[in-house]
Amino acid sequence: MKLYRALQAQGFGSRKGSIAYVRAGMIEVNGVVCDDPETEVDPVGLELTLDGLTLPFHDKAYVLMHKPAGHECSHHPSHHPSVFALLPPPFVLRGVQCVGRLDQDTTGLLLFSDDGQFIHRMTSPKKGVAKRYLATCADPVSEAMLAALQSGVQLNDEPAPIAALACEQTDAHSLRLTLSEGKYHQVKRMIAATGNRVVTLHREAIGDFDLPADLAPGAWCWLGDDELKQLEQPWWSAMS
Ligand code: URA
Repeated sequence: MKLYRALQAQGFGSRKGSIAYVRAGMIEVNGVVCDDPETEVDPVGLELTLDGLTLPFHDKAYVLMHKPAGHECSHHPSHHPSVFALLPPPFVLRGVQCVGRLDQDTTGLLLFSDDGQFIHRMTSPKKGVAKRYLATCADPVSEAMLAALQSGVQLNDEPAPIAALACEQTDAHSLRLTLSEGKYHQVKRMIAATGNRVVTLHREAIGDFDLPADLAPGAWCWLGDDELKQLEQPWWSAMS
């Protein structure tokens, strides 16, 4: 692969911009400056550097973030900074999108990718990729509330009641809730339908994959093949 094409594919710049960066001596290939845009590079193990930012070559981007509160999952945020501002700028240029959205005040596991098929598999209700949340509520969690969430609550604009796959109380005001789909404000609306109100919401897991305990709020990391497999496990695989 030609160097300028590798740069373009990784979001370092347009075709023209990538060629210009290389000619200006601004690009390092595996730590060594290269000023010929036509140089053949091997994508395996390739590391590209521009302006002190080094990124490993990834054909497709699969990225995990510990989303902090106060960030919107939008390229054009209205009231808060964008989660994309926490990622290296090339990610946006290569077309990385949020894999499902979290509300600005929700924290926890957020995925990004530029692989449209992966995004579809992770977000389509038919694929059964469960999402697990920890919610703290304004009023104490009651047995009646847990029973309603487990048997199904009616939300506005939904044809039928929606039930949690699993629901357990974690302390007086908190509960852990697993959902098989990801409708707009689903956790907050389901808890509101029981007469309570979400105060804080944190996504702990997607599929069989838990947010790593050592990933600080605002930090991100690349995902490997094993992690992607865990993420894509449908909830019914645990039943067999
Ligand atoms: N459900 C919500 O209500 N908000 C989120 O951010 C995610 C799930």
